[in-house]
Amino acid sequence: ISRIGSALVKEIHEKQSMNRSRERFWELAGSKLGDILGVPKAAEQTDADSAVVEEHGEVDFKEDSKFSELLKKGDAVSDFAKSKTIQEQRQYLPIYSVRDELLQVIRENQVVVVVGETGSGKTTQLTQYLHEDGYTVNGIVGCTQPRRVAAVSVANRVSEEMETKLGDKVGYAIRFEDEIGPNTIIKYMTDGILLHETRSDGDLEKYRVIVMDEAHERSLNTDVLFGILKRVVAKRRDFKLIVTSATLNSQKFSNFFGSVPVFNIPGRTFPVNILYNRTPCEDYVEAAVKQAITIHITSPPGDILIFMTGQEEIEAACCSLAERMEQLISSTKKVVPKLLILPLYSELPSKLQALIFQKAEAGTRKCIIATNIAETSLTVDGIYYVIDTGYGKMKVYNSRMGMDALQVFPVSRASADQRSGRAGRTGPGTCYRLYTENAYINEMLPSPVPEIQRTNLSYVILLLKSLNVENLLDFDFMDPPPQDNILNSMYRLWVLGALNNVGSLTELGRKMADFPLDPPLAKMVLMGEQLGCLEEVVTIVSMLSVPSVFFRPKDRAVESDAAREKFFIPESDHLTLYNIYQQWEKHNFKEDWCNVHFLHVKALQKAREVRHQLQKILRKLKIPSSSCWPDSDLVRKAVCSAFFNNAARLKGVGQYVDCRNGIPCHLHPSSALYGMGCTPEYVVYHELLLTKKEYMQCVTCVEPQWLMEAGPMYFSIKESNTSFLEHKKREEKEKTTMEEEMENLRKVQADADRNK
Ligand code: CDP
Ligand code: MG
Repeated sequence: ISRIGSALVKEIHEKQSMNRSRERFWELAGSKLGDILGVPKAAEQTDADSAVVEEHGEVDFKEDSKFSELLKKGDAVSDFAKSKTIQEQRQYLPIYSVRDELLQVIRENQVVVVVGETGSGKTTQLTQYLHEDGYTVNGIVGCTQPRRVAAVSVANRVSEEMETKLGDKVGYAIRFEDEIGPNTIIKYMTDGILLHETRSDGDLEKYRVIVMDEAHERSLNTDVLFGILKRVVAKRRDFKLIVTSATLNSQKFSNFFGSVPVFNIPGRTFPVNILYNRTPCEDYVEAAVKQAITIHITSPPGDILIFMTGQEEIEAACCSLAERMEQLISSTKKVVPKLLILPLYSELPSKLQALIFQKAEAGTRKCIIATNIAETSLTVDGIYYVIDTGYGKMKVYNSRMGMDALQVFPVSRASADQRSGRAGRTGPGTCYRLYTENAYINEMLPSPVPEIQRTNLSYVILLLKSLNVENLLDFDFMDPPPQDNILNSMYRLWVLGALNNVGSLTELGRKMADFPLDPPLAKMVLMGEQLGCLEEVVTIVSMLSVPSVFFRPKDRAVESDAAREKFFIPESDHLTLYNIYQQWEKHNFKEDWCNVHFLHVKALQKAREVRHQLQKILRKLKIPSSSCWPDSDLVRKAVCSAFFNNAARLKGVGQYVDCRNGIPCHLHPSSALYGMGCTPEYVVYHELLLTKKEYMQCVTCVEPQWLMEAGPMYFSIKESNTSFLEHKKREEKEKTTMEEEMENLRKVQADADRNK
């Protein structure tokens, strides 16, 4: 990581997308999207009205008549979905031609690796075949997905194919949300859900078959599941495991389970012409938008798929593309065919995601702008043109900050090939790579680094410990995480009080593992119990688990800021979030109320669902409810006891330094503390936002006393002047001690085992 990191990571993010506002995008994307999302309508006037129309030098205009004709005609392939019944579509998929053979192999083997091109029908068909072959008579067929979006969208599609309502025979479960009923026999879920289920049902008794889909993505949860499922396979003869993968890695998977058969679904793909940039491009958002426009007005029909890194960029690109189209229409007297611009990323509400699969009306070209979610998880038919920026976002552990951060990285060669392949699904296509061939050959890694080797493992460690995997070094990992990584994560858990000095789960740690939450948030809930402010804390945790509730249209910034300010509780953004939820509840969870106060109703509704789910867990654990309102000190204390790891000390006006690593960090202008001019000596924050400056997000003022109580390993009164270096030294020393103690324990255990 550090190798590619230093060589290639570009700090493109802030430069390119920060000043292009998200709301502008919603404005341009039209009322339809806005209606579904439930965002208040922005004012009519747009910036583009006064904008100077740019020249499109590279664009070669065709005769308008021919041009729109061209788009109307010959769209036979993407009309495919329209002309065939849903059952006929099923039979058209490549997997259908090998259905019986595949089922035979599955009957004869307990574990099978299935390999097939994206779109061959693995995700939607395999589960149905298994059902048709009788596997759901005594148990259910589960299918795991690394991505939430895929789980929901595929469950929708399959329930349609099986002509049942979602949540009846076919359902899905993702964190804090499920559509599962007593009749459910095919269950799509994220790999995280299945992993969490192993806590209450170690042998996964209710499943007859598990399809581990998209295993090549090597998500952290999938990698851990590999080890757990291997144990289940050895224990339960009646259990079947199917691992699906794009071509990559299949042999490795087969070897891991003891040389199990690899079944290949013959592909049906068309050649893709690959075009490279001659020179590296400066601004790939800009370059991609230009390329899309060029394709749209010069090339024959076929939809466009653009790969970008994340939500902000995608929205910026959508916005810019829509603007260009507007300009084009107003600057030429010719008929410009319609371009339907569709964003696709995981945080996008599912109703909007569904638009991707809908066929555009005749004469309209679709242009989908997506994250790497469209690389393998979701297949959209009718794509003839792919524009690949060559970058993607990856979660990596940032040792400087001591936390995970999503960072932009060049994709691997395998991903680049996967991306270009998307253009050849319905006919011969073209892929425009916005990087040089030299970069592809010499700078890109052959395949992506598995998540387990690059992220914080705290939750996984907590979970494995609670599954009685005492010694993580003995766990059957396909690619063991670096020992440093394990140790760092264990240290974080120890600091939180979830592990004791020899690395075993404490009582608190055991309880923390019951919540599908990041360990600090789980600790916050449990501290809420202890301090008697559970109600408040659960609301705050729910609000922290959803996208931002604040809606801030660019053209109504002043108004929306004023609306936000009304909710401020001067000493804490956490309490401000609580306040908002309370007020919303008081107003009967009304949508109108949200619109008036510039709040995203969907985000609040999501928070309400999360809250319900958390309360369900609390009831199951028989943890009684408690509240301390209107006294809020205890709530701040609970926040402090979970986030003391992210503490900062005042240095200048609005300026802080992180207590642990000395990094300067700032109050964000949107913070309640900033707005109320409240600059306390000590604060804790939820996370750091990396833009031009390091901004603390969601900040709460705390007493130094609380920091000392919560994190005695970091803070003491005497040492208030100790330098960051000394802290660092001490942290290292503690880690070494812990390591030694664990090593001793291992030796003792090994001796004991030998004497048995
Ligand atoms: O898993 P794999 O990539 O092999 O294919 P799949 O996801 O099962 O997709 C098979 C077909 O179902 C594709 O042609 C998709 O276009 C279609 N599909 C769909 O129409 N709607 C969805 N939500 C998912 C898939
Ligand atoms: Mg699939």
